Amino acid sequence: MSATTETMIRARGLRKQYGDVVALDGLDLDVERGTVLGLLGPNGAGKTTCVRILATLLDPDGGTAEIAGIDVRVDPDGVRRRLGLSGQYAAVDEYLTGFENLVMVGRLYGFPRRRARERADELLARFDLSDAAHRPSKTYSGGMRRRLDLAGALVAHPDVLVLDEPTTGLDPRSRLEMWDVIRELVQGGTTLLLTTQYLEEADVLADHIVVIDHGHAIARGTADELKREIGGERVELVVTHAVDVARAHRVLEDVCDGDVRADAIGRRITANAESGPQTLMEVLRRVDAEAIALDDVGLRRPTLDDVFLALTGHDTSDDAPDPDGELLVGTTDAAGATEAGAIGHRHEEVTS
Ligand SMILES: Nc1ncnc2c1ncn2[C@@H]1O[C@H](COP(=O)(O)OP(=O)(O)OP(=O)(O)O)[C@@H](O)[C@H]1O
Ligand SMILES: [Mg+2]
Repeated sequence: MSATTETMIRARGLRKQYGDVVALDGLDLDVERGTVLGLLGPNGAGKTTCVRILATLLDPDGGTAEIAGIDVRVDPDGVRRRLGLSGQYAAVDEYLTGFENLVMVGRLYGFPRRRARERADELLARFDLSDAAHRPSKTYSGGMRRRLDLAGALVAHPDVLVLDEPTTGLDPRSRLEMWDVIRELVQGGTTLLLTTQYLEEADVLADHIVVIDHGHAIARGTADELKREIGGERVELVVTHAVDVARAHRVLEDVCDGDVRADAIGRRITANAESGPQTLMEVLRRVDAEAIALDDVGLRRPTLDDVFLALTGHDTSDDAPDPDGELLVGTTDAAGATEAGAIGHRHEEVTS
């Protein structure tokens, strides 16, 4: 990385506890200007807690966070001037129209009335909401609300944007539209932290991914590094008759290299598909030759559950404690040199 990189979001040892629940347990984050960090984790991992601390809505119990070099605790107003937030639950007043919502945000930022109206019109046009501008936003679809919420986060031209699960609950088409909007923002130079429960989303949008569980990072790297670590696509068979699970298991063991998983109740067997479609075809030839009846067959991209299983040995719903330490799948050291693909366990790291 060049000497001109500038860390726009920086967190060190963030901790937050609610009663007995440790929501954040020493989280470190770095997001360089103009890049996208995907914070990936299951329900309750601590994503929203982290987002709220970065956005000055919540005080950490320990650690520090800086936005564009401004400490969130020392100068929260300064942080708010630089940062736009779009929350997990859209902060839209549903009795106001889309236009009124955005004008209100502009006024809260101290824009004169006329400037607030101009900015609202600009953003409504940009997010394809002009036709619905003067309808109460309670008549908006879920996708339209998320776009309006994101527009609200952009009113004051922030150069750092934090999006908490921007596409959760959206249908596939609205999700793709939201991805386009986000990519456009990033091309315009915005620095972005987004949280998500979808590996695919982090893969598409993020330059770097931090996987968190129980409030701390369990892996970090680029999407490619993570996928290399957890394996790529998987071939998945669902056999018609439970008695065939063992035979199908043997077929996958023969064709694929290891890591065959069987769910006997669901009659589902999966394995790494090293060569993608070629692996699938070879599996199908063998299944056919052995006359194993199938209900379903296909190639599947890794999901968050696959990531968790590979990294922690348990799935996202399992509450088993994590191994301490963190898997580094490609890391940037203090001097800025990238050590792609390096894998090792890291314990508490002190960075000045
Ligand atoms: N206000 C609160 N009071 C008590 N516990 C809380 C509070 N907010 C969060 N928690 C707990 O802290 C942990 C982290 O919650 P957080 O909302 O940050 O997770 P998340 O990763 O955003 O989850 P999700 O994917 O469901 O949005 C959870 O165990 C949650 O129950
Ligand atoms: Mg959340």
